[in-house]
Amino acid sequence: MNKNLIQGQTVLITGASSGIGKACAEQFAKLGCHVILTARRLDRLTAVAADLKAKYGVRTTPIQLDVQKNDQVEAAVNKLIDEGIEIDILINNAGLALSSDKFQDAKVSNWEIVIDTNFKGLLYTTKAVLSQMLKRNRGHIINIGSVAGHGCYPTGNIYCATKHAVRAITQSLRIDLMGSAIRVSEVDPGAVETEFSEVRWEDKEKAKKFYQGFQPLVADDIADAVLYCATRPQHVNVAELVVYPQEQASLTDICRKGEAPKGLFDRVK
Ligand SMILES: NC(=O)c1ccc[n+]([C@@H]2O[C@H](COP(=O)([O-])OP(=O)(O)OC[C@H]3O[C@@H](n4cnc5c(N)ncnc54)[C@H](OP(=O)(O)O)[C@@H]3O)[C@@H](O)[C@H]2O)c1
Repeated sequence: MNKNLIQGQTVLITGASSGIGKACAEQFAKLGCHVILTARRLDRLTAVAADLKAKYGVRTTPIQLDVQKNDQVEAAVNKLIDEGIEIDILINNAGLALSSDKFQDAKVSNWEIVIDTNFKGLLYTTKAVLSQMLKRNRGHIINIGSVAGHGCYPTGNIYCATKHAVRAITQSLRIDLMGSAIRVSEVDPGAVETEFSEVRWEDKEKAKKFYQGFQPLVADDIADAVLYCATRPQHVNVAELVVYPQEQASLTDICRKGEAPKGLFDRVK
């Protein structure tokens, strides 16, 4: 990994209060990047920011931000621009799934939150940061999609749809930015043990059970993949990286120890 390629650069991460976003913040800070940590839970961001600053001596900026709210996103990015902070790398990571219901049973209010966060939030953040990147003709946008953007699983309906949308916009943005020096990449994880399943089911025990019997990815595995994209030479654009745990063979197939290979949620029905 060529540390010099990104040392001193500024990275804005959405959803940096937990899981993959937090792991990205740590790995980029470790390589000497300044990190702007955004999410809704400011207390967590402040603690992560203080920790990374103490460990790595980089500038860390915690910002409370709900990506569902375009006015908040624009205000936060404009404030950074006014302060002379230029964003070199944007990691669009904030995202969630809520519940796991069949389409016919799902709550419309849950759909709205998932769409507004996973897709519209990514659009708002990208739009706000992109104008500055275009002015400087430099930058790298790295979207965290999912293997759920490559297929569908039972009850995955709206989550899968938003991750397909992320994949489509990543590809489309790369085409629209042709002729500029801005790179656009996507990292698509399989099952990663983070707070994701706790948020989905609001049930710690159920979340724990989902990750039992196989070795899921950890947040650092995905941060590693993100870092790989960011540390390629300028002429290299990693378009898409799909990362599974070894025991997950596809979006819908996980092999747990002592059990015949089963579908994604068979264990936690
Ligand atoms: N874990 C997996 O198995 C898996 C697999 C494939 C893809 N992914 C994707 O990876 C990304 C990160 O998930 P994770 O696994 O790290 O889950 P996580 O530990 O629950 O982290 C999710 C992060 O998103 C933030 N977030 C949620 N809603 C937000 C909003 N409206 N505005 C700003 N931030 C918001 C959360 O912060 P606050 O609550 O503080 O706002 C948190 O920092 C998501 O896009 C997810 O879809 C995860």
